[in-house]
Amino acid sequence: MFETPKPVLGNDKPAVVKSWDEWSPLKHVIVGVADGGMIPPGEPALDAKVPEDSDMKGQWGPRSQESADKANEQLDNFAKVLESRGVRVDRPTPIDFSAPVSTPDWENPSSFGCMPPRDVILTVGKEMLEATMSYRCRFFEYLCYRPLMQKYFEDDPHFRHTAAPKPRMSDASYRPDYLSDQIGVEKRLKWTAEKFFVTTEEEPMFDAADVLRFGKDLIVQHGFTTNLKGIDWLRRHYPDHRVTAVNFPGDPYPIHIDATFTPIRPGLIINNPERRLPDEQREFFHRNDWEIVDAARPAHNTPPPLCYSSVWLSMNVLMVDEKTVCVEASEVNQMEQFDKMGLEVLPIPFRDAYAFGGALHCATTDVFREGDLVDYFP
Ligand code: ARG
Repeated sequence: MFETPKPVLGNDKPAVVKSWDEWSPLKHVIVGVADGGMIPPGEPALDAKVPEDSDMKGQWGPRSQESADKANEQLDNFAKVLESRGVRVDRPTPIDFSAPVSTPDWENPSSFGCMPPRDVILTVGKEMLEATMSYRCRFFEYLCYRPLMQKYFEDDPHFRHTAAPKPRMSDASYRPDYLSDQIGVEKRLKWTAEKFFVTTEEEPMFDAADVLRFGKDLIVQHGFTTNLKGIDWLRRHYPDHRVTAVNFPGDPYPIHIDATFTPIRPGLIINNPERRLPDEQREFFHRNDWEIVDAARPAHNTPPPLCYSSVWLSMNVLMVDEKTVCVEASEVNQMEQFDKMGLEVLPIPFRDAYAFGGALHCATTDVFREGDLVDYFP
């Protein structure tokens, strides 16, 4: 006699995991934690991303306890604000990020951290997919989410937990051209325009934060952290979706789409004016009456110390629903723009958390939003 594996609970239990887009009413989310976050050691993909004039060049090691405490304070406060809006909040479980990591193909002196969940876990419908990732220092980051995944698996008989094939991340996956620290912005912009990125097409690679969910459409940035094979892998993995690759030629360090192109509600996207979506790619949105407007200028001229991201984290916002947006509390221009669009703005102090991996969209990943799968681009 064979035993049929049964869901622990009946099939009539309400779904715990479901989210099809970036703006439907948010009910359950994961917010990152800063504990043990590292300034990661040099490696091919990461070196390509750290700007020539960055204070992070050549540094690595644990971040200070003081900086982690300050970041955690803001992360905890963000979680509280979401809870006050009726959103359930879960947190990942850090592993020891300071320990050396290795596979049969490479060794890295440490990992990174588990602040930006958006980069690692992609929720599409009832499925949470662990991205392949593209940096060696983030190869094992999925482990921080396994306790939550196990719990969702037990609580929700329809939940699908999947993991994309781990890339080998051998040297063949990275272009040595990007190893020089003297490339300069001009050459970088030329390379971006030519779609000559640090990752090769050796094997599929993608970070979850290069994907934006528009119901039936997944819009994916091709850049440093996601290659064309990665996008093709996503296309084959989601046969009921349309997967469209986009490029932003103005970005000398193209990683993660969410400080570049941010959907606000059906029909409205803000686009970084320094990283304009090319006209031929705008067509797809315009044809369906979507408006793409320039995002407001950031309020700061520089990112905080030891931060990888640019000042454009100003537009890295989290939609609580179509009318409510979480914006970093010092980003006055971005708040004003949203105010004029008729949105309710929730100001969230968050700059102390930026260095750990980004702003409010990065720092979260969806577990549940209301609403069903909609085709916005018929
Ligand atoms: N590439 C972006 C910038 O520096 C940062 C995006 C961060 N996003 C994330 N999900 N970690 O402008």
